[in-house]
Amino acid sequence: MRRRRIILDCDPGRDDALAIAMVLASAAEIELVGITAVAGNVPLALTYRNARFICDLCGFPGVAVHAGADKPLAREPVTGTRAHGESGLEGMEVDMRPGAVEPGGATAFMNETLRIAADDEITLVAIGPLTNVAALVAESPALLPKIRQIVLMGGASRAGGNVTPTAEFNVYADPHAAARVLDCGRPMTIISLDATHQVLTSPARAERLARAGSEPARRLAALLRPAVHSRTARFGPDRLPIHDPCTIAWLLQPELFKTESVPVAVETEGTHTLGATVVDWWGVTGKPPNAHWVTEADGEGVLDLLIECIGRL
Ligand code: BDR
Ligand code: CA
Repeated sequence: MRRRRIILDCDPGRDDALAIAMVLASAAEIELVGITAVAGNVPLALTYRNARFICDLCGFPGVAVHAGADKPLAREPVTGTRAHGESGLEGMEVDMRPGAVEPGGATAFMNETLRIAADDEITLVAIGPLTNVAALVAESPALLPKIRQIVLMGGASRAGGNVTPTAEFNVYADPHAAARVLDCGRPMTIISLDATHQVLTSPARAERLARAGSEPARRLAALLRPAVHSRTARFGPDRLPIHDPCTIAWLLQPELFKTESVPVAVETEGTHTLGATVVDWWGVTGKPPNAHWVTEADGEGVLDLLIECIGRL
C-alpha cells in the first residue's frame, strides 16, 4: 500500500496530542508532511508550542510545524480550556516554553505543499477549528484538486452538541470557516461526536498505555485520564470520549468505522444553533451528498489501535 501523505491541522489540545503521537508512530503507513497549528482549544502560541512539544517528546523534533490563524474568520474567539486546561495539555508536564509566534505560515506551507504535489496526492486531516483550511480554500481554489481528501473531526448531529445543545466545539469555534470548507467540493469524511461518543476511554485504558513500554507512552497516558473539569458523568464513571485520534484510526483502519454519504450544511447565524452541522438524513433538501459522515465507530478497536501505536514510539 502506498503511504498516504498528510498535513495535520490541529489545535493541541489533549486529544490532538494523542492524534499527533499516533501519526508519528505510523510512519510506515502515513507520511506526515507537516503540522499546522490553529487557535482553538488554547491560543495559537500554545497550540503551536504544544504541537512542537509532542513531536519532541515522541522523538521527532524535525517535523515541520507552522503557526496559522490566531483567530476565527468572523466570530469572537472561544477556547476549550475547560476540557484541556490553561496549557492545553492538562495532566502533562510541558517542559517547553511558548514563544512569540508569527501567524500565517500555515497557509503558505499548505499552498507550497499542494503546488508541488500531484492531483489527489495530499490528505488534509483537520482536528481543530477550520480557519487554516478555510484560508487555503479561499486563497488557492486552483490547488484544491491536489487534495485527495479532507478528513475532519467536527460537528454533531444525532449526538447533540458539546458546547451548545446543537454545536460541537471545532465547528462552533469557527462556523464560517467550516461552512466554506464543507462547500469546497473535495471528498470529505466527517468524524463527528456521533462517532467519537462511541470511543470512550477509561482508567484501565490509561494504565495500559502507561505500561506499554515507552517513555512517550508513559507520559501521554495522562491524556487518557479525564481533565479536572471533564464532563465524565454523561459517559459513566471516569469515562471520556476520545475525539481527534479517530481521524488517524480512520486512515489506518477504516474498517473500524461505518459511514453514510449525506448532504451537510453549517449554521452560521442561528440564535440558538450557531455552529450546528445540519445533516440531511432523509434527503429532504434534494441536495447531493457532500460528505461521508461517520455513523458508527468500534470504540474498543480504536483504543486498542491507539495504545498499540503510541506504545511502539
Ligand atoms: C473537539 O474539540 C476539541 O476540544 C477537541 O480537541 C476536539 O478536536 C471535540 O469537540
Ligand atoms: Ca482538536
